[in-house]
Amino acid sequence: MMTARLTRYSNDLENLSRSHLRRRLEPINGIDFTSNDFLAFSTAPQIREAVQSALEDGMPLGSGGSRLLRGNHRIHDELETMAAETFGSEKALYFANGYSANFAILTTLPRRNDLIIFDALSHASIREGIFSSLAKNVKTPHNDVDAIEHVLADWRTSASGSSMAWIMVESLYSMDGDCAPLSDLVEVAERYGAILIVDEAHATGVWGENGRGLTEPFDGRRNLVAVHTCGKALGAAGGLVCTSSELIDFMINKCRPFIYSTAPPPINAVAVMAALRLLDEEPRRRIDLLGLIKKANRELELKFEKIGSQTQIIPFVIGDEELTLRVASEMQQAGFDLRAIRPPTVPAGTARLRISITLHATEKNISDMFDELYTIVSNTDTDIS
Ligand SMILES: Cc1ncc(COP(=O)(O)O)c(C=O)c1O
Repeated sequence: MMTARLTRYSNDLENLSRSHLRRRLEPINGIDFTSNDFLAFSTAPQIREAVQSALEDGMPLGSGGSRLLRGNHRIHDELETMAAETFGSEKALYFANGYSANFAILTTLPRRNDLIIFDALSHASIREGIFSSLAKNVKTPHNDVDAIEHVLADWRTSASGSSMAWIMVESLYSMDGDCAPLSDLVEVAERYGAILIVDEAHATGVWGENGRGLTEPFDGRRNLVAVHTCGKALGAAGGLVCTSSELIDFMINKCRPFIYSTAPPPINAVAVMAALRLLDEEPRRRIDLLGLIKKANRELELKFEKIGSQTQIIPFVIGDEELTLRVASEMQQAGFDLRAIRPPTVPAGTARLRISITLHATEKNISDMFDELYTIVSNTDTDIS
């Protein structure tokens, strides 16, 4: 009986296999061109030492409860104070990861009769939050500020146009590596009295003055909510929501994913604080990464005559899922850890290799990787252009 009930799952899995969309958990192997550990902070001695010394001083592993109960450790408050100073906001709130931070914001702050405008290439955590929110939502074409402005103008003249409007974007898109036109978005948000939410997941630690992210020039604006994830360039785990005191205090009181969940391990907060310190102590890491990013984008241009994203995430779009898997697998066999990114993570017909540049690869690794990619792609019978 139960076996019969489970067949719908095995049927779905078979369908995924047939369309080359089935995923498997693979071990870590080869030179890293996949992770988001851009600054190699996940293995930085200073962060390890901070964690080790906190453990030796008796810091517990688990928090023991919700932040509103006994799970509120002093280190959580210290991290939030440091994050607000670092990212130039009135207050900050720490979540276990970026996914729950995005979900939490979008299901708590925009309310019934509000409007959320979101970019077509938004991350799954943003979509989940928006689709679970009571607010109305409108998807606009990628990085199209005019489209956002039109939606806002229409909304303001509609019956519910006096309620709040929210614009949700990523500052650096996770699968395309391009950046949002933040100055224009800030200006449009201001003109229409909207609040701009910026997911800084891939910019935090890498871009902006001293790695403060791409919202850094707009620090302190009360109509800005920035989400700085801590599991990528910061090499730890978490999501820091940085915004006005009113919105943070409201979330502490009303945000269900914050209230009804065990607080993140205090030790994670130690790691994030050490990572924020390390950004200032070792600017060399960012400078070296920026050099590698230039090198990688140049290699792409020279070898494939393609213009790169100019950031640390360089999409190499192949299109066909099976071919993308084959190229990724051959690259892995040659010792380069490149993964195939397929729908629904990216739009249909745009399966790709997502080349991620981190300090785990050297300049030589980068040119060897592009040489190998060129050889493999030239040997396929399909024109990848
Ligand atoms: C744009 C974006 N936002 C949020 C997240 C989620 O962050 P976390 O991995 O900390 O849950 C990701 C993760 O891939 C992401 O790419």
